[in-house]
Amino acid sequence: MSQALSQAKISKIFSFSCIALFATVVTGAVTLPTNATKGEGFGLLSHSGTPSATGTSNGYYYSWWTDGAAQATYTNSAGGQYTLSWSGNNGNLVGGKGWNPGTNGRVINYSGTYQPNGNSYLSIYGWTCNPLIEYYIVESYGLYNPLSAALKRGLVTCDGANYDILMTTHTNQLLINSTQTFQQYWSVRNPKKNPRGLISGSVNTGCHFAAWQNLGMSLGSSHNYQIVATEGYQSSGTATITVS
Ligand SMILES: *[C@@H]1O[C@H](CO)[C@@H](O)[C@H](O)[C@H]1NC(C)=O
Ligand SMILES: *[C@@H]1O[C@H](CO)[C@@H](O)[C@H](O)[C@H]1NC(C)=O
Ligand SMILES: *[C@@H]1O[C@H](CO)[C@@H](O)[C@H](O)[C@H]1NC(C)=O
Repeated sequence: MSQALSQAKISKIFSFSCIALFATVVTGAVTLPTNATKGEGFGLLSHSGTPSATGTSNGYYYSWWTDGAAQATYTNSAGGQYTLSWSGNNGNLVGGKGWNPGTNGRVINYSGTYQPNGNSYLSIYGWTCNPLIEYYIVESYGLYNPLSAALKRGLVTCDGANYDILMTTHTNQLLINSTQTFQQYWSVRNPKKNPRGLISGSVNTGCHFAAWQNLGMSLGSSHNYQIVATEGYQSSGTATITVS
């Protein structure tokens, strides 16, 4: 899944300013579509269901991205709640609510239902700039465990649970002949929370970030968004999650 995801993420990583800036610099004369910096207009395939979007909903930042290959519906509801349902066993999508910018020490709570059928993650998910880092604190997942394609860097115990720490490298072919390599940092709860119904948890992000730092995995100097995301890859499922 990690490797296969890299192409799909071409569009996802255009959805915020540090990358839009980078893309503008490295691609020179290439003009990005108008909506590129909003995470729209970059679907590799025609969109089905809810178009990609970011914004604010009831006091929470939300980010919803789909490559358009799945039939997917993302809905913001009251407070920190969102609902995602997807089907078709095709494509890549990720959405959720949280904050923008993220912070280094937020305790993030989530509760609801999570029922993936196939490859999926339920994670604290975010990005930093300088350097560009994509991070996941995976609370639960469907079939695919990210550990299966990565070297384990270490272990950490946070909030009373054990997590495997991983680092992976992504080399993405960006628009027109430019590539960017960036690191992904992972904490993967072991054992994962049950992905077949009710789910809840409290995640002290600072505990993970400090453990990563101790392993030489430093986040960037500024945070972009930080959400509780449901991700699907060539799968189907439903999630209704409330973030606080
Ligand atoms: C940009 O987004 C707006 C609003 O979502 C939409 O009406 C417009 O068609 C989009 N433009 C492009 C080039 O995708
Ligand atoms: C991309 O690279 C190919 C092969 O080197 C070249 O032919 C093409 O002109 C390049 N495209 C742009 C937009 O630079
Ligand atoms: C998060 O959960 C913890 C532990 O249950 C609780 O003490 C805290 O008040 C909650 N915070 C929010 C913002 O809901």
